[in-house]
Amino acid sequence: MLLAVVAGGEAGLARITNGAAGAEGTNAAGASARPTGRGGKFIAVANMKGGVGKTTTVVSLAETLAADDADARVLVVDLDPQASASVCIAGDALLWQLITGNRTLEAFLEAKLIHQKKAEIRDSVCGDLDPPSHGGRPLNLSLLPCGPELRIVERELIYELTNRDLSMNAIDGKIWQLFSKDVQSLADDYDFILFDCAPGISPVTEAAICLADLVVVPTIPDYLSVYGLDAFHGSIWASRSGRTRKPKSAPHILLTRTQQINHHHSIRRQVIEATQRPGSPYRLLTTSVPQSAGLTGALVDAGETTYTRKYAPKIIDETLMPLVREIKGLL
Ligand SMILES: Nc1ncnc2c1ncn2[C@@H]1O[C@H](COP(=O)(O)OP(=O)(O)OP(=O)(O)O)[C@@H](O)[C@H]1O
Ligand SMILES: [Mg+2]
Repeated sequence: MLLAVVAGGEAGLARITNGAAGAEGTNAAGASARPTGRGGKFIAVANMKGGVGKTTTVVSLAETLAADDADARVLVVDLDPQASASVCIAGDALLWQLITGNRTLEAFLEAKLIHQKKAEIRDSVCGDLDPPSHGGRPLNLSLLPCGPELRIVERELIYELTNRDLSMNAIDGKIWQLFSKDVQSLADDYDFILFDCAPGISPVTEAAICLADLVVVPTIPDYLSVYGLDAFHGSIWASRSGRTRKPKSAPHILLTRTQQINHHHSIRRQVIEATQRPGSPYRLLTTSVPQSAGLTGALVDAGETTYTRKYAPKIIDETLMPLVREIKGLL
């Protein structure tokens, strides 16, 4: 059996999904819809592995949350220096203006943590976008963008704070403090806040995962994507000395780019079985995202369109809306 080979018996997915030291579990399922009045909900879309569909999930989910409820205020926070979510939502020209105007996450992080200046996170949020419309109104979508400089700022941050004799744990603590105050405060203004995390695991990704009410882990049902889940869980959810906080949410696998091929069917069956075992730290979302040319094509530079022109009816009905319903049920 493939996973047993990967796992060497009880390792790999088999070990992950049996692990006793799992996350603390999600909020009660079955709670309903939009959390107005209780503050917004944070959804982190993360996986150590690259190219598994994190950005595609964030952008299509954000737009579907906004299309599903015209009153829902949706914010995407781009935490990936590749700036993929930023360019998909803002478009190349506007993103360039935001970057050169210092209205980005990295400008905020630099001002606040490196130069220790007063900075207001809301000043980096762009609400003046040109999103797809739905029902005759533009989707209620905002963006806290980033650009390639985020990578440099993240490195400088570690360099500067280490020079001030802060340990790695203390630096993690500073970033967490900023997330738990400044980023958390965005929940007063938005109903859903989605983090598009970079591949790999940075202190910023870790803070986003710890703040999140729900962690979605896009995973292609293939050998290598599933293999990486063990390390991802171990790096963030498992206890480590010096670490005081833990994610609120268990990681929820979202199978992505699924194809009607034997390998994907077989891995999907194994993931279902493993995540149903008692004590499994990973949960599996029922909805999955098929490999679809329509989804790749939808994520192009922003431009004037409607939600239903952007996404094919089949994708909306069979994937995006069911995913939104399932996620709302978990929040
Ligand atoms: N469901 C899908 N059907 C077809 N193509 C997809 C699908 N999901 C993602 N892709 C394509 O796969 C590639 C990677 O997707 P995406 O950028 O969303 O992944 P990612 O996990 O965010 O990558 P990275 O780790 O680099 O941030 C892109 O070219 C995207 O268009
Ligand atoms: Mg991405």
